[in-house]
Amino acid sequence: MMHKMNPAESDFALEEMPGEEMHRLLRDLRSRGPIGRARFMGIPAFIITGHQALLAAFMDAEKFPPHRLYQASFEGAIGESFISMEDPRRHLLYRRLATPAFRSQAVSRYEREDLEALAHELIDRLEGQEQFDLVEAFTSRFPYLVISRLLGLPRDREDDFQEWAAALLAFRDNPDRAAIARQRLTEFLIPAVDERRQNPRDDVISELLRARVDGRQLSDEEIYSHIRLLFPTGGETTHGSLGNLLSSVLGSPGLWPSLAEDPSQIPDVVRESLRWETPIAVLPRISASFDMEFEGVHIPADSWTLFAIAAANRDPDLFPNPDRFDPSRFRTETRGDESLTFGRGTKACPGMHLARKNMEVAFRVLLERLPNLELIDHEAALPRRTVLRCPDALRVRR
Ligand code: HEM
Repeated sequence: MMHKMNPAESDFALEEMPGEEMHRLLRDLRSRGPIGRARFMGIPAFIITGHQALLAAFMDAEKFPPHRLYQASFEGAIGESFISMEDPRRHLLYRRLATPAFRSQAVSRYEREDLEALAHELIDRLEGQEQFDLVEAFTSRFPYLVISRLLGLPRDREDDFQEWAAALLAFRDNPDRAAIARQRLTEFLIPAVDERRQNPRDDVISELLRARVDGRQLSDEEIYSHIRLLFPTGGETTHGSLGNLLSSVLGSPGLWPSLAEDPSQIPDVVRESLRWETPIAVLPRISASFDMEFEGVHIPADSWTLFAIAAANRDPDLFPNPDRFDPSRFRTETRGDESLTFGRGTKACPGMHLARKNMEVAFRVLLERLPNLELIDHEAALPRRTVLRCPDALRVRR
């Protein structure tokens, strides 16, 4: 679909906005000012596209309370976890209890030794196939397998976990299927948590059981909901970011083989792809329940406000030649990484390190094992949608 003459009519929930189409639209909106108008699920919305204004909005939890959307969305599927807690002190306490497990020694060792083996395992399954879809075979599986293995869940049940995770995520379309998945996952977690209480191991469930902050610890029910939280936050985003990375590289002529020859550029390419085509291109917020002014704009109570991370990441005030996919830019720029890919403020992504590591390792193994990979369907490989942006398929020939 061509984008409309009036960008305020564009609906960021209902339109697919493949590839450049979304970026053209965001450029147009940003050129009219840092805060504009658009639509979301048929409802008029504000959209913040300028980097400086978006950074200020991330830091202003009073005007844009970050928990509201999560209360209205995933809480029904996964239960209460820190992402949807309203009280900032409670949010911080539970965040401190639940997130160190993802920076623990168990995770660092896993990153060194097991991520790579897992990537090889998925590529081994493609033996004998000349053409395949990397979304189906790799990007949609790898992040979930990483989470299941970090949790120490049994390998012969991995297909079940993936099915339950998908059902939890699709709970709006099919609440009954999500409720069944939640129950199955919990029935599975009850003995797994008990077992680790008796015999702690080197995995994330054991770390969650061990965690203590200010004399508090997580109850079993809280452990279950924080494990469920990882599937939508850690699984879907990394699935999208890997798909966008592969789409960007396979879509740039000559880049795949040159990286296969010189893998030292991998971290820069991962970083640039996270800026250039980020999986949470638009993060919806529901504004405060009072009318207010933000950066000179009047925002009525309870308004949809779209945080256009993809637009801020291409703001020419911060990034020279912002629309160019240029992996060398971070080497020459004097400032640190100012992209807003992982959010800012109290909700800044606690999984960013793991996400980057997942991407770097998966990408390195793919380049090593499939050095002559070529895209055969460019249209399907365009990233699509905005809240979770990624390609539908990456059909390739080896
Ligand atoms: C490329 C991959 C990823 C991207 C682009 C991403 C992006 C983000 C963003 C933008 C936020 C802020 C949300 C807000 O302000 O409302 C966030 C929060 C969060 N992310 Fe990530 N994320 C990624 C991977 C991960 C992974 C791998 C995990 C888990 C291991 C994770 C767990 C979380 C959690 C739990 C929060 C909520 C934090 C809070 O409520 O304090 N993310 N992420």
